[in-house]
Amino acid sequence: MRLALAAIIICISTVSAWAGEPIEPIPRTVAYDAKKAQLGKQLFFDVNLSSDRIVSCASCHDPYSSGGYKGFFLGEHRKKRVKDATVLNAAFNFRQFWNGRARDLQEHAAMSFEIPISMGMSRQGLEERMNADASYKKLFREVYKRDGIKFDDVTDAIAEFEKALFTPDCKFDRFLRGEVKLAQNEEEGYLLFKRLGCINCHNGMNVGGNSFQRIGVIHPYDWDEKFPDIYKLTKDPRDKNRFKVPSLRNIELNGPYFHDKRYDKLGDAVKKMAYHNLGYHLSDDEAAKIVAFLKTLTGKRPAILEQK
Ligand code: HEC
Ligand code: HEC
Repeated sequence: MRLALAAIIICISTVSAWAGEPIEPIPRTVAYDAKKAQLGKQLFFDVNLSSDRIVSCASCHDPYSSGGYKGFFLGEHRKKRVKDATVLNAAFNFRQFWNGRARDLQEHAAMSFEIPISMGMSRQGLEERMNADASYKKLFREVYKRDGIKFDDVTDAIAEFEKALFTPDCKFDRFLRGEVKLAQNEEEGYLLFKRLGCINCHNGMNVGGNSFQRIGVIHPYDWDEKFPDIYKLTKDPRDKNRFKVPSLRNIELNGPYFHDKRYDKLGDAVKKMAYHNLGYHLSDDEAAKIVAFLKTLTGKRPAILEQK
């Protein structure tokens, strides 16, 4: 009886370390199918899955750094204007793409194949190419237990790999679990983040990724039809510049900032956000404190990247 009570108390005390805070830690372990994920990893890095065999998913989403674009050669016709959303922790987002047009990672991967300036592969084209490769045929037979590689199995394996791309144990999560203290400037930055109202849009497990909001709520931000906002889907003028709120996890690694990649420095992005969405002019000191807090959101590299 006494033991059971002690167990309950321990349980409550670890939960209450972050209960009441609007940000939740990323779990230390996530359930996924290890065989499918390993196969998905191979696919994610394979340039043979794109029409011209120049890019892989990893060319635009380097999971070893930010999960976004980090300078790979993409071929002449892939001039990119819109910022790549990061694949790190993407499984925790409520929808995929800047305007949320994919419900989940598998649907997203399917769309990604068909976009001409992304992978540029039709379902049929991809199946033909995969089925011409004896070693993939063997691997898929082992994992999916049937002959012939199906498009949906390719996207399923990639989505399973993406589930494994989570970055646990950043300093802030360890703070929420009561394991470490924040430095004074980090803590002041977090208080500012909450007091100014950043937290209204950037909250939950991904510190974002769970709602659609506009950039330019108080002071308008330039609008350009070439970017994938929700207006593209609805044609409702109120949806111009409305996007899925990006996750701020690992944000220090994930510049340049905003959908149009306008700012290189995180401190500038913080100041512009405060201005456009909350109507504040932040001092350099306030912006620096918020940046110090944001840097505590950089987690560990996903374990699957080190596994053979
Ligand atoms: C040529 C560059 C390029 C390639 C290749 C590419 N992507 Fe992307 N990816 C992008 C861009 C740009 C976006 C944001 C586009 C948007 O939201 O409209 C994006 C968005 C994503 C997202 C959404 C994340 C989120 O939070 O919304 C995921 C997941 C993703 N890509 C996975 C993949 C996978 C898997 C592949 C390979 C099958 C792939 N990408 C290939 C450029 C690329
Ligand atoms: C009303 C909702 C809202 C509020 C409040 C808000 N943000 Fe944002 N934030 C967004 C949206 C939407 C975007 C995407 C904007 C874009 O890319 O054009 C964004 C983008 C960002 C980015 C860039 C992310 C990237 O990947 O490029 C940073 C950094 C950021 N916000 C920090 C903050 C900070 C710090 C505050 C408080 C000063 C704040 N935000 C307040 C909605 C909000």
